[in-house]
Amino acid sequence: MIRSVRRVFIYVSIFVLILILKRQLSTTDQMKQPVVVIGSGLAGLTTSNRLISKFKIPVVLLDKAASIGGNSIKASSGINGAQTDTQQKLKIMDTHELFLEDTVHSAKGRGIPLLMDKLTKESTSAVKWLQTEFNLKLDLLAQLGGHSAPRTHRSSGKLPPGFEIVQALSKKLKDISSKDSSLMKIMLNSEVVDIELNNDGHVTGVIYLDENGSRKILKSHNVVFCSGGFGFSKEMLREFSPDLIHLPTTNGKQTTGDGQKILSKLGAELIDMDQVQVHPTGFIDPNDRENNWKFLAAEALRGLGGILLHPTTGRRFTNELNTRDAVTMDIQSKCPRSDNRALLVMSEKVYDKYTNNINFYMSKNLVKKVPIRDLIQNYDLQTTEPDLVNELKNYSDVDTKDKFDRSLIINSFDGNISPETSVYVGEITPVVHFTMGGVKINENSQVIMKNSESVLSKGLYAVGEVSGGVHGANRLGGSSLLECVVFGKIAAENIAKLY
Ligand code: FAD
Ligand code: SIN
Repeated sequence: MIRSVRRVFIYVSIFVLILILKRQLSTTDQMKQPVVVIGSGLAGLTTSNRLISKFKIPVVLLDKAASIGGNSIKASSGINGAQTDTQQKLKIMDTHELFLEDTVHSAKGRGIPLLMDKLTKESTSAVKWLQTEFNLKLDLLAQLGGHSAPRTHRSSGKLPPGFEIVQALSKKLKDISSKDSSLMKIMLNSEVVDIELNNDGHVTGVIYLDENGSRKILKSHNVVFCSGGFGFSKEMLREFSPDLIHLPTTNGKQTTGDGQKILSKLGAELIDMDQVQVHPTGFIDPNDRENNWKFLAAEALRGLGGILLHPTTGRRFTNELNTRDAVTMDIQSKCPRSDNRALLVMSEKVYDKYTNNINFYMSKNLVKKVPIRDLIQNYDLQTTEPDLVNELKNYSDVDTKDKFDRSLIINSFDGNISPETSVYVGEITPVVHFTMGGVKINENSQVIMKNSESVLSKGLYAVGEVSGGVHGANRLGGSSLLECVVFGKIAAENIAKLY
């Protein structure tokens, strides 16, 4: 009898031991699994850097493209921040409340106010993080459309902001990866096609096609989608914003809404998908007018003083610093419908403030330096030299109220200009630029389930343009790079808490 009790006791003990061991093994296994970050634009680079540098949590960064940077690398105007050191140094009065007010006003009742609050409040620390962790100067400011203060930061020096920021953040990851590939691994040419969930709905892996097109799986319990918008996909535009499929775009060919499609199939809520931003100024290349892809004429060109002229009358027709949707509407309704374009004209002073960028546009033949007189002939304007000169002089007269209520008139044309005075000019047309809609997230950047306020899966996050709700019906220039940094940091913090 005693013997059999002892035997049962031994069996039960072994069973319990096995259970404990199994549980421990699976916890260790889980602990060891890296976070998978999908997309190497600024959202992915921020999330990865934060996870590794602050929390020492291992990351695998996947991108379907052959190079790092997504659309982020092309950003040309800069990143927003209120109450930053740079603003303080340049004596710019600004507050989080004012930035929030501008953001909510631009959003026109769409989007999620809580996310807008986070975006604006965290903007000071986001800019500071880039300045201190990556030694980025971000010492210059521009005031873009819809903003009440100059708050779009870029660095003095030769590099455009997107390129500079992506270069700095990716260098850090590459350095870490070369020292310790178990902490950081970057896999390019790797296209994510699905997510594996277990029966409890928890993320267990990421399915992707490797560079040879073979289907592979990466085991992970934390996945962050940073896969960008859908502005390049005519198929998605046809579904969500069919009026825009005829417009060209500034987006790279990788911008096809893969994250939105994969997550929606898994049960994620999509929000504001019909809200697609048309940027008023894509450059028309005079040697390739019909190309669907356009170089962006950065909003900073207008923020720093550029104006728009009607392509027939040579007169101004809009407040160039209104929000993007309003400027686009004016181009589409006031300029001839047939070619949907206007002229962007800048003074020598704008050139002095934005020299490297304008030199780049000139090297691509998108901007030309010409005497005012030649504008009439080159662009077939139906006006006279004195009228055109007067139009530029009237705009520059800061003592008279602007006829379109433009609030910021800087770097304008001198009072003594004549037909011989040179200006910088390019032809522009509205372009599909950004998709405000996307996967609905909460304030921790976790993906929200369809028709519910609950998270879809504890370890599933979306950051950057793939997510929706941060900008409502219209994004303010400079707020996309900001969104990547703010919510990338937030996602990393949250993963670290639950890891
Ligand atoms: P992205 O930078 O687009 O990166 C997404 C990445 O995900 C890409 O590398 C892509 O290859 C990868 N990916 C997609 N699908 C998959 C998949 N299935 N598997 C693996 N990888 C995948 N915003 C500002 O705030 N300021 C600016 O000055 C500014 N200028 C801009 C200028 C231009 C020309 C453009 C096009 C945009 C500009 N924007 C600007 C907007 C801003 O750059 C983007 O909205 C923002 O950078 C998006 O960042 P992201 O990291 O979310 O996505
Ligand atoms: C631009 O430079 O006009 C783009 C800025 C942005 O999209 O935020």
